[in-house]
Amino acid sequence: MKATRFLVVCAAAAMLFASCAHDDGIIRTPTPARPAGQEDMIQFRAEPIENVGVGIVGVGDRGSGAVDRLTYVPGCHIAAVCDIEPDRVQKNIDLLASRGQIATPYSGSDEAYKQLCEDPAVDLVYICTDWLHHVPIALYAMEHGKHVAIEVPSAETLQACWDLVNTSERTRQHCIILENCCYDFFELTALAMAQAGVFGEVIHAEGAYNHNLDPFWNGYWHNWRLDFNQTHRGDLYPTHGFGPVCQALNIHRGDRLTTLVSMDTDPFNGPKLVEQRTGKPCTDFQNGDVTMTMLRTAKGKTILIEHDVMTPRPYDRMYQLVGTDGYAGKYPVEEVCLRAEMPEDVNYQDLDFEKVYTGAELEELMAKYPNPILTPELKAMAEEVGGHGGMDFIMDYRLMYCLNHGLPLDMDVYDLAEWCCVTELSRISLQNGCKPVEIPDFTRGAWDRVKGFSYAFAE
Ligand SMILES: NC(=O)c1ccc[n+]([C@@H]2O[C@H](COP(=O)([O-])OP(=O)(O)OC[C@H]3O[C@@H](n4cnc5c(N)ncnc54)[C@H](O)[C@@H]3O)[C@@H](O)[C@H]2O)c1
Repeated sequence: MKATRFLVVCAAAAMLFASCAHDDGIIRTPTPARPAGQEDMIQFRAEPIENVGVGIVGVGDRGSGAVDRLTYVPGCHIAAVCDIEPDRVQKNIDLLASRGQIATPYSGSDEAYKQLCEDPAVDLVYICTDWLHHVPIALYAMEHGKHVAIEVPSAETLQACWDLVNTSERTRQHCIILENCCYDFFELTALAMAQAGVFGEVIHAEGAYNHNLDPFWNGYWHNWRLDFNQTHRGDLYPTHGFGPVCQALNIHRGDRLTTLVSMDTDPFNGPKLVEQRTGKPCTDFQNGDVTMTMLRTAKGKTILIEHDVMTPRPYDRMYQLVGTDGYAGKYPVEEVCLRAEMPEDVNYQDLDFEKVYTGAELEELMAKYPNPILTPELKAMAEEVGGHGGMDFIMDYRLMYCLNHGLPLDMDVYDLAEWCCVTELSRISLQNGCKPVEIPDFTRGAWDRVKGFSYAFAE
């Protein structure tokens, strides 16, 4: 126990040393200079790949789902499967064989992924391991000439975010975050509506990962997820709520994140989970049951994100867009609100003066703003194959489509870094009495070059 406390104190001291508060009270972290000769990856296009050879690393729950799903996605095939556990690899190789696909198995050690990354049949390394293995695998893959796609959250530290940015820029390999929630039907349509100006100017947004993980805690390989919560404070899973709203706010496409402030509750339920597991008292649990983070942008917009995986609160990614003239919200009931004509006799007992669209009326309104990627054919395919209702399939479909045609991907390495850096920056804020922390510009000056989020299409 003493050793754990000592490590926590050392880690906090190291962070304070690396980051420092200025006269304005804002804590800043260092931004490494872009190495000479290295260029940014904004709108980067790689050579088209006709039939993408996918190498999957980590075939636990999520990775096995990806293997299954990718067999239905056009423009790709699974060339290799890797996991430390040989039986997990075999199960997936068997599934592929039952669908007429032959993939090379790699397993038996935590470095078997290196052989997969060196396999010439692999074009894209698709990483679905526990969080701590994401980055070493991604860096090795890019160094060996492979594009990488990394499950969420892709990186846990600021250093890891910078390493991914620098390696992607230097090796000219794509590094995409697999943020499936950017592809859910409501988010896709609300984004199209925001871009059409239906809500006026979007000035505030909210997102969350509020998910009661009670039934899941015991299923993770070697208990990695609870261990990480036990040893780390901060928003550990920011991207489901944050990614989609960053797209609606054009982050690093005309605006950029500048500052965040976080606050959390004490850990109330976390220690009980450890005690149930070990039968011993737990006094060093770090992650608060509820963590909230507020962020501000260069153009004066704000975002609120929440993280709660410990309480029986209903599942909620919030997804709220607040515009000068309208609002979209997904939970608990999907609705859009727009300004209404005021009646002559206003009843001040009424608390709502806007026009609310729900149900069939909402469907009719949203049908006027189709997201350009969501063709009727793709929607039908996604609903049939599934994966969180279809959004996983749409994400994979778009990834392969862009690689097939040599197009910029929907999400780039800067999205990955901006969305994932919240984990460490929120911790820095919390460990310094909720002080504001500057959010680095991972594009190093290129955040304003492209105006507005958009999808790329083949000519
Ligand atoms: N986007 C989503 O909706 C969503 C949903 C669930 C999980 N996830 C993410 O997917 C990832 C995996 O989660 P999971 O629930 O499948 O975890 P899991 O514990 O079920 O599986 C992790 C797997 O990684 C393997 N692994 C670990 N280190 C490895 C290495 N060095 N080489 C090869 N294999 C290795 C383990 O053997 C295990 O099979 C996590 O990042 C998680 O956050 C995302």
